[in-house]
Amino acid sequence: MEQKKQYKRYTVTSALPYANGGVHIGHLAGVYVPADIYVRYLRAKKREVMFIGGSDEHGVPITIRARKESITPQDVVNRYHKMIKESFEDFGISFDVYSRTTSKTHHQFAAEFFRKLYDEGKLTEETTTQLYDEEAKQFLADRYVTGECPHCHNQGAYGDQCEKCGRDLSPTELINPKSTISGSTPVLKETKNWYLPLNEYQEWLKQWILEGHKEWRPNVYGQCKSWLDMDLQPRAMTRDLDWGIPVPVEGADGKVLYVWFDAPIGYVSNTKELCEQDPQRWGNWEKWWQDEDTRLIHFIGKDNIVFHCIIFPVMMKAHGGYIMPDNVPANEFLNLENDKISTSRNWAVWLHEYLVDFPGKQDVLRYVLTANAPETKDNNFTWKDFQDRNNNELVAVYGNFVNRALQLTQKYWGGIVPERGELLDVDKKAIEEFKDVKEKVETLLEQFKFRDAQFEAMNLARIGNRYITECEPWKVWKTDPKRVETVLNVCLQIVANLSIAFGPFLPFSSNRLRSLINEQNFDWEQLGSIDLLPAGHQLNEPQLLFEKIDDETIQRQLDKLEATRKANEQAQWKPTEVKDTVSFEDFEKLDIRVGQVLACDRVPKSKKLLQFLIDDGSGTPRTICSGIAAFYENPEELVGKRILFVANFAPRKMMGIESQGMILSAVDADETLSVVTTTKDVKPGSLVG
Ligand code: 2FM
Ligand code: ZN
Repeated sequence: MEQKKQYKRYTVTSALPYANGGVHIGHLAGVYVPADIYVRYLRAKKREVMFIGGSDEHGVPITIRARKESITPQDVVNRYHKMIKESFEDFGISFDVYSRTTSKTHHQFAAEFFRKLYDEGKLTEETTTQLYDEEAKQFLADRYVTGECPHCHNQGAYGDQCEKCGRDLSPTELINPKSTISGSTPVLKETKNWYLPLNEYQEWLKQWILEGHKEWRPNVYGQCKSWLDMDLQPRAMTRDLDWGIPVPVEGADGKVLYVWFDAPIGYVSNTKELCEQDPQRWGNWEKWWQDEDTRLIHFIGKDNIVFHCIIFPVMMKAHGGYIMPDNVPANEFLNLENDKISTSRNWAVWLHEYLVDFPGKQDVLRYVLTANAPETKDNNFTWKDFQDRNNNELVAVYGNFVNRALQLTQKYWGGIVPERGELLDVDKKAIEEFKDVKEKVETLLEQFKFRDAQFEAMNLARIGNRYITECEPWKVWKTDPKRVETVLNVCLQIVANLSIAFGPFLPFSSNRLRSLINEQNFDWEQLGSIDLLPAGHQLNEPQLLFEKIDDETIQRQLDKLEATRKANEQAQWKPTEVKDTVSFEDFEKLDIRVGQVLACDRVPKSKKLLQFLIDDGSGTPRTICSGIAAFYENPEELVGKRILFVANFAPRKMMGIESQGMILSAVDADETLSVVTTTKDVKPGSLVG
């Protein structure tokens, strides 16, 4: 993947997250960590770069959340914008600007953008019939309608998608639609909206992407190709909704810009905001968006590909004057413990919670997420892998090497970098090996291969570890201290190199490492040098760079997820349908009685069965076996309880024991069973009915 052109500067954007929830590991792995690595690398290379982020504060889900919580959409986005911004800061995502799409600058900018397209006849007007809630007096966007899916007949399908069969829907396709606002049945009503005629740009898109950008990641190129192989349709750029940027056209009352129209413009308006804040430093916004010498890169997740590769480019092309993205390194998705990350099911690791549980360990998460980056296919985050990578890579390789080098220097020379004497073959070999690291890391980063690039940085620590183990300075010290001086000098040069190589990936630990070696002013271009720390340079007290994570800590995270899974099951649980009606006579055939448990034991060699001995009032204890052993760790706890049993249930042999009846148990949402008891001390043998 060669870069075709020498650019003067870089505009790097990362998808603007919706301000209706926190940030989780999926966001970080898919978009923000790779974007941040890239930008930190560009800055280290002294390239001119602007890194743009911000919150996407419009769209229907935000209004739905506001309605649910009886607050305004503005309250919702205020809360989450703050939270998201803080999470990014905490994890070292080094935006130059992080603004929001409710800002005045953005509203004005996006409205002007739309107005230009409108004035120049680049948009088409179309009247369609949409669902309308007459009680709430509003058109019902996607998620405001539920009804029966026309494909799988799921009763709770949304106006834009059926979550059961996964098909995309339009609200008018739903059978028996209902408004989620008032519960009423919506009516069809005509409405006018403005459309972007994507079809008119199809040939240009084909040329630009399919011919011009064969170097894009296969998943991105492939998705674009499948869109462009179909006939593109005009797409509505306005919505009947009261939350968003009012459509700046007469007669458009009650309409706002489609959230996917205004959000990507947010990249530009945020640039403008930054440039206006500090024009000395950033110049004017146009140079970042309209100068052919600027390289535009969008970091996004795969669900955003069509918006960044087709719709936004068409908007910019229609407007005129804008540069096109030169690459869109979209990632696939990250799963959590083999299950899709889901905000609504709370199946996620939230950044703000992570930091409470793992204070100061931002880099561990950054490392693991990059090592598992879903660059070419969906990938999986597991807590076990998190622990393993921390313990076996960060601690055992990187941390261990650094610690050995620093501790030995401290021990033998009071933390002063020793002289490097004559180099032996083993030294030359190590030096030769790590010289390549710079080129390797750079080549991979230029190709957006972040996992591989981080692997190469870690390789430097592997080289260091191998070298120190091979040279055994702790043994040689007694016989040849001069030799140890050389070995440790080489080790310390590798340590210093590590602080440079890991800089874009693990910024927090790189800074700490620089403090430990008491030298802040390295330059990326020095990566690979063996003269970073001069002899005589005083290091600081050694400290561990990373620490082991124990099994209990990991188990606590797994328990938390398990609790979430259970809660979801409970929340989704619905009682089974009521069975066919039975007559009183039929019911009377069952002889249900109260019994008092005299003894209750596990049946030997059976995992399932408990053997009950019951006082049924007859004077002769009754034996009943029941398959509920898994749900009672201490069956003795049932002794003395008054339970219900079917007395005329046909006797049958279970594990060689004759069972005379059936104990009644309730089945809970998670399929656990609970014996049914009485609330009063009813006499054993009493009838139930
Ligand atoms: O998918 C999302 O979370 C969108 N809010 C991304 C918007 S990216 C850009 F267009 F702003
Ligand atoms: Zn369906």
